[in-house]
Amino acid sequence: MPSPTVIRRVIKPALFVLCALPFLSIVWAAFEIGGATLGTNPVEKVQDTFGQWGLRFLVITLAVTPVRDWFGQPWLVQLRRMLGLYAFFYVLMHFLTWLLLDQGLYWSGILEDISKRPFITIGFTALLLLIPLAVTSTNKMMRRLGKRWKSLHRLVYVISLLAVWHYYWQVKADTTEPLIYLGIVLVLLGWRGWQARMRPQRTVVSRPAPKSLGENLPDNP
Ligand code: HEM
Repeated sequence: MPSPTVIRRVIKPALFVLCALPFLSIVWAAFEIGGATLGTNPVEKVQDTFGQWGLRFLVITLAVTPVRDWFGQPWLVQLRRMLGLYAFFYVLMHFLTWLLLDQGLYWSGILEDISKRPFITIGFTALLLLIPLAVTSTNKMMRRLGKRWKSLHRLVYVISLLAVWHYYWQVKADTTEPLIYLGIVLVLLGWRGWQARMRPQRTVVSRPAPKSLGENLPDNP
């Protein structure tokens, strides 16, 4: 297990840069740096890239706890918040691209799409549900919410399913990719359900709220 200093000074900054690369690749292409371009349909390219990465980061965040347990690496949980916030960031960028570049802030069209196009309704619901998770991701909010924090953050299970459903519904022909995502999400959620069933019932003993999110993160989500 890496030392807390290595996690804080090396692993977390490196992960931060790594997670920003998809965003930077879009900025690069938008400014045509080094010959990169956004292709013939730039709005679609930007929107799809952000949507894909939003979904990937959601799934990666969901995988942290199982992977931690499968490989016996408890420190991995310290990276979960950053991954979750990146998921939110990419989904927000995906939404803003749609709102500003695709819809051009044409409000009646936007409201009509959200209410009448089911795949957009579902994507929008997933985005709305992500907001309280992002807002309560700080140490302070975690301490303030106590046990409710964990229950609230279980929303990520619903959000992941909605996100896959949104992807599945907007695909026109080949549904292979969304079905692969569905399979992965079901395995990750199924593992949690199985763990919960296997766990012996414990008497809840009240204990002081954790001082530092890094050292004392709750088990789930
Ligand atoms: C958790 C939330 C969301 C996730 C993970 C997500 C993810 C995705 C993914 C993976 C795609 C397919 C991209 C591709 O074809 O390569 C997509 C497409 C799309 N999403 Fe989302 N999305 C989310 C929320 C939203 C929201 C809030 C909106 C708008 C209100 C939206 C609007 C769209 C549209 C219009 C497309 C089709 C783009 C096209 O025609 O190429 N999504 N989304």
